[in-house]
Amino acid sequence: MKTTHRIFFKDSFDMSELESNSIDLMITSPPYPMIEMWDSHFSNSNEEVKQALEEGNGKIAFNLMHEELEKVWKEVERVLKLGGIACINIGDATRKIRDNFQLFPNHVRITSFFQNNDFTELPCILWRKPTNIPNKFLGSGMLPPNAYVTLEHEYILIFRKGNSKRKIPSKSENRYNSAFFWEERNKWFSDIWKDIRGISQNLNKNNINQKSFRERSAAFPLEIPYRLINMFSIYGDKVLDPFWGTGTTSLAAMISTRNSIGYELLPDFLEIFKENIKKIKQLNFNINHSRLNHHVKFINKYRKEVKDTKYKSIHYEFPVITKQEINILLYSVINYSENRNNFILNHEKFQFNNKIDY
Ligand SMILES: C[S@@+](CC[C@H](N)C(=O)[O-])C[C@H]1O[C@@H](n2cnc3c(N)ncnc32)[C@H](O)[C@@H]1O
Repeated sequence: MKTTHRIFFKDSFDMSELESNSIDLMITSPPYPMIEMWDSHFSNSNEEVKQALEEGNGKIAFNLMHEELEKVWKEVERVLKLGGIACINIGDATRKIRDNFQLFPNHVRITSFFQNNDFTELPCILWRKPTNIPNKFLGSGMLPPNAYVTLEHEYILIFRKGNSKRKIPSKSENRYNSAFFWEERNKWFSDIWKDIRGISQNLNKNNINQKSFRERSAAFPLEIPYRLINMFSIYGDKVLDPFWGTGTTSLAAMISTRNSIGYELLPDFLEIFKENIKKIKQLNFNINHSRLNHHVKFINKYRKEVKDTKYKSIHYEFPVITKQEINILLYSVINYSENRNNFILNHEKFQFNNKIDY
């Protein structure tokens, strides 16, 4: 199988390169309004933001920042297929304006926009990084009544374009091959994710230059787009990220054998993407191997402790719990080439040599 990945370095409020109704899935993490690191970004897009911030008018600044994002959401509505899914990773912001500490609920504002346009709202996911530091101190003192709750989670908001499910031919081989395991379904479709670790961060832990790039880009962990792609699209689909950053969504699409398209204002971020893509084969192997290994461990325990299973994987021979899982097939990246921000990858069936006898 072949996939293509295209990046446009321009403002995504105009995605005229893309036809209407051409995208199967959108996954993104925009600049978060009212988080200070994005003040200059929003002020550059609209001078009134700067003025509102200087005047200490938080509510006006918040609204103006969202109006900037909404230009992009409007384009997303145009390019997404009917029944296609939009996933938005967003955190709320807390901030002191003129000594008055307050919440700016970004997820509410974005949800309200999607509800008022041609989308159906679906249940969302809350995720937070695992923390077990014993001396963690959450902020604002021990004296009631003026302490504040600390925000430790982010949202993945999920919407479907239109009001009916996406239509896929009933015999689509790609759809059955893209199935996920029963135990993955239980974990991925839970409304709280507490196990998200920054896989992508491990890629370059020795590269200081990349670390500072990453801080500037506010990259999300690879596991987030990887799961969402596997949950809401099938092999060969087109995945769009209109706030591409360092290209984590494209990296996840490559590993998941989907096509991807990204829009990004800052061409500098291509450097970090190119560094990551050099390790794509190893990363792809690690993720596939870990998924299948995890399944084998799970299924052995299940058969021992719960009951025997009836079905067997066609491609990998291990037992699976349901009939929907029998066609699961993973792919490996074999090679890639690049031509002017356009990446082409070849993929072949992932071989899994597990010696356990079933
Ligand atoms: C939170 S970051 C995305 C990080 C990304 N998910 C990653 O893993 O690297 C948001 C990105 O959107 C870009 N951006 C903001 N407004 C944009 C616009 N209108 N069009 C294209 N890119 C934009 C910013 O330059 C920034 O890199």
